[in-house]
Amino acid sequence: MSSDPAQHPDDKLRPHSYDGIQEFDKRLPNWWLLTLYGAIVFAVVYWFVLYESSVVLPDGERITQEMNRIEAEKLGKLVAMLNDDNLWRMSQNPDFAGKGPSTYKSTCASCHGATLRGRDEDSKLIGVNLVDQNWIHGGLPTQVFGTVKNGVAGPGMPAWGPQLGDGRVAEVVAFVLSHHKQGEPIVAVPSPSVAAVQ
Ligand code: HEC
Repeated sequence: MSSDPAQHPDDKLRPHSYDGIQEFDKRLPNWWLLTLYGAIVFAVVYWFVLYESSVVLPDGERITQEMNRIEAEKLGKLVAMLNDDNLWRMSQNPDFAGKGPSTYKSTCASCHGATLRGRDEDSKLIGVNLVDQNWIHGGLPTQVFGTVKNGVAGPGMPAWGPQLGDGRVAEVVAFVLSHHKQGEPIVAVPSPSVAAVQ
């Protein structure tokens, strides 16, 4: 490219001169400006989508969610081989235990209340508190599962096995157990309805 000003009549010369060398005051080419501004806009949008909005979850959370989903699928197969450990695992998996609340709301809340505290929540409710450490029929996960599946005829706790099937009973029990900790004390108490029944 020639630097002879005579060949670039539209370009201004910058006023300074170094050792007799002068520069044109040229406008930056559009493709260059577009790339620069485009990169700035892209960086802002990329930062916003990735870190500020919830459109894309951070990698760590995506991996945790995916692992929970896979674990929940495996736990679903363990319903056929229930033991205390498996039920605790189900209660700690947000995907598995997360299926419990809808069943709880439609089938249990009418007696055990919206907060699972039963007659402690509202004395008009006939169900007992499911989040304290007092258990009438045993607080081990398999015992809780048995109570929900088979019911307690006298005091009016229906048997849910026939209606819900083992899978949904396991989900709702996992949800109840998610309010408890493995290894917490289990206090045996008598049924408040015993007097009424006998
Ligand atoms: C019609 C009312 C009613 C409904 C609906 C009901 N329960 Fe109960 N439930 C009771 C009563 C009453 C008891 C107390 C039984 C007793 O006194 O022996 C009880 C007891 C229990 C217990 C045993 C608590 C303990 O201390 O041993 C569990 C667990 C339980 N219910 C879970 C559930 C779940 C889960 C559902 C929904 C699938 C459900 N119940 C629906 C009335 C109900």
